[in-house]
Amino acid sequence: MAKYKVRCLNNIAPIALETLGDDFEVTEDLGEADAVLVRSADMHELDLPDSLKCVARAGAGTNNIPLEELAVRGVPVFNAPGANANAVKELVVCALLLASRDVVGGVEWCKANADDENVAKAAEKAKKQFAGTEILGKTLGVIGLGAIGRLVVGAAEALGMKTIGYDPFKTPEVAREISPDMRFVDNLDDLYAGSDYVTVHVPAVGDNIGMINADAIARMKDGVKLLNLARGSLVNEDDLAAALASGKISTYVCDFVSPAVLKMDHVVAFPHLGASTAEAEENCAQMAAQSIRTYLETGEKVHCVNMK
Ligand code: MLT
Repeated sequence: MAKYKVRCLNNIAPIALETLGDDFEVTEDLGEADAVLVRSADMHELDLPDSLKCVARAGAGTNNIPLEELAVRGVPVFNAPGANANAVKELVVCALLLASRDVVGGVEWCKANADDENVAKAAEKAKKQFAGTEILGKTLGVIGLGAIGRLVVGAAEALGMKTIGYDPFKTPEVAREISPDMRFVDNLDDLYAGSDYVTVHVPAVGDNIGMINADAIARMKDGVKLLNLARGSLVNEDDLAAALASGKISTYVCDFVSPAVLKMDHVVAFPHLGASTAEAEENCAQMAAQSIRTYLETGEKVHCVNMK
């Protein structure tokens, strides 16, 4: 009989079970679990059993887990920092392009005109309504220079963009290592004032929640393009709606949906796809499973986010 029982609250890549090894078995009964492996399931309302010894998130964000309550109970929570960073970075590149040209509108037009025998001719007339601008030479402001933000800086620069970076937890030396070409600023005013595109890569904690509000938006360039592949709650939806309606924000590309955001014009929304690649899912599952195994076998806490 296996020594430990693991409850997976979401579908987790099979490599997690290989990583856990023979001393672990999966259980469907949360009530007997020694460990929980979770991706996006909301754990805040769950009745967590006394048997629970640790929780691992197959991803970076941990806002779906009751961190403090678990810390009080002595249950460490682990995350998988950086394991999906490349996947998110690639979707940010996609978001930059979708914010610049109405590719989505063009694709929808093509589908809507599929039955038109003369669609090729009609397309040549229709295409002007989907034209846009290039990202080459434009400036991208990157808020948060962690595992994802720093990759975004590199990718944007490789595509010919200028970058401005802000991260209160990074020193100028670290910023130079991220990119000697990035303009590292110590306040958001400078980032907002200089950026044609703003992308956020910070966790949804504390003051970060609602940080993109009317006051922040007012300090951005007119017609700025806003990218949010971090968490929906970073952006104040009422203030976003007003800024999109006035044209202050020309496009909002986000990886999070809500009825309000989906009803706004000039929004391109994805259903939380940032980490949804085979590679990222494997990396996250493996890192999270390894943290569970290490903790239960040795007591060592690796990538623990709620206690020392
Ligand atoms: C993350 O926090 O890293 C992502 O939300 C992971 C995911 O999509 O599951």
